[in-house]
Amino acid sequence: MKTAYLETYGCQMNLNESDVLGRRLLEEGFRLVDAPEGADLILLNTCSIREHAESKVLSRLGVLKRLKNGDNERLLGVTGCMAQRLGGEFLAKAPFLDLVIGSGAYPRFFDALNARVETGRPQVDVGFAPDFTMEDRPELAPGSVKTFITIIRGCDNSCHYCIVPFTRGRERSKPIGQILSEAAWCVAHGVREITLLGQNVNHYRDGEFGLAECLRRVAQVPGLERVRFTTSHPGYMTDDVLVAMAEEPRIMPHLHLPIQSGSDRVLASMNREYTWAIYKRLVDRARELMPQMALSTDMIVGYPGETEEDFQATVRALQEVRYDSAFLFKYSPRRGTVAAGYDDDVTTEEKQRRLAIVIQTQRGITDERSARFVGQEVEVLVDGTSPRDQHRVVGKTREFKNAVFPGRPEWIGTLKRLRVTETRGVTLFGDPIEPAAAQGAA
Ligand code: 5AD
Ligand code: SF4
Repeated sequence: MKTAYLETYGCQMNLNESDVLGRRLLEEGFRLVDAPEGADLILLNTCSIREHAESKVLSRLGVLKRLKNGDNERLLGVTGCMAQRLGGEFLAKAPFLDLVIGSGAYPRFFDALNARVETGRPQVDVGFAPDFTMEDRPELAPGSVKTFITIIRGCDNSCHYCIVPFTRGRERSKPIGQILSEAAWCVAHGVREITLLGQNVNHYRDGEFGLAECLRRVAQVPGLERVRFTTSHPGYMTDDVLVAMAEEPRIMPHLHLPIQSGSDRVLASMNREYTWAIYKRLVDRARELMPQMALSTDMIVGYPGETEEDFQATVRALQEVRYDSAFLFKYSPRRGTVAAGYDDDVTTEEKQRRLAIVIQTQRGITDERSARFVGQEVEVLVDGTSPRDQHRVVGKTREFKNAVFPGRPEWIGTLKRLRVTETRGVTLFGDPIEPAAAQGAA
């Protein structure tokens, strides 16, 4: 039997696509292994979002190529966004590659693999499959409590810094019936929480159904406890989605709402299609409907033309919104994007200085947003035991905070209540609350 090793870079959609590819590999008779040494097929599922993501892949390939050592039977391939972006150019950078399969070409993965085996020549496929509705049942690791379902692929927006429209193509929504049958399949295999994925999940559409209806329907799948979704675009977030979150207890009260910048001038130059005032109104509305909700964001500092004044508006946005957590990035020019044509005029040192300031600012806010739970009861979906202490269990709260507390492995896959005693970063610690009846029986 042949063995395959898969290593994933980038976002949750890439993780999900690796799990789906993993399942397809099993169906084709491969065994999945957890180390590249000895694997017959080694695949890196790559990301292009920033220069750094790509350089990590190139240096990893530098290490992995030694495993090939002229062995033409052992195949080394790249899939995903960087493969899609570079296509044949990838072979110029890494001539030892056997497969370059872009994120739009997964449905033809095995055609390319077979062609490589038959011809002995490297295969490149970066053509977008016309109707990419890949059967998306993921390979679930034993005991998986949570998983992802991709509901829309691609992005029709054009944020001027972003490579994703190039690597992911036009938007394609998955039919609601297929989403529901994948969700039911996952639940039958032990899953209790599903995160619906899309580069712009707000654009989900199947006939009359939008994201709100999709969330409500998935939330009704028998046996499923929790539904989440990501990533939202503030320009397309509709009120019906916020109302669905507030009304349906199985849709979790956490919104990832990337702001990118707090400066209207920079937002316009990024082509984000909203202003700080519009964004803040959305946040206020969400919190009015769900006072306990958690909010997270993405932010870019050092965008072309970002002045000190623009940057201060971004710092102010962090302070005013008070996010539960934030992913903070230095701008990285991506070839082919509109912004790549602008003068990248903020120096590397200045980008670093600005990044350090936002990280420092957010650190205190993250602590404060976690500390609000101290003394409160929270609901946790237990998804594992602590790697450091087998007598403690880990999971997520409804608001997507990490939770760590004393417990037993049998609790994995169940909802437990926790009284929070202390917090560190986005992690809550405390004691489980046993139901009164159970305490009486003990
Ligand atoms: N440079 C830096 N950060 C970027 N992001 C997207 N493109 C770039 C870029 N060129 C960030 C955005 C996005 C997140 C996934 O990555 O904040 O929301
Ligand atoms: Fe990376 Fe974006 Fe592609 Fe995800 S969609 S792998 S973040 S480039």
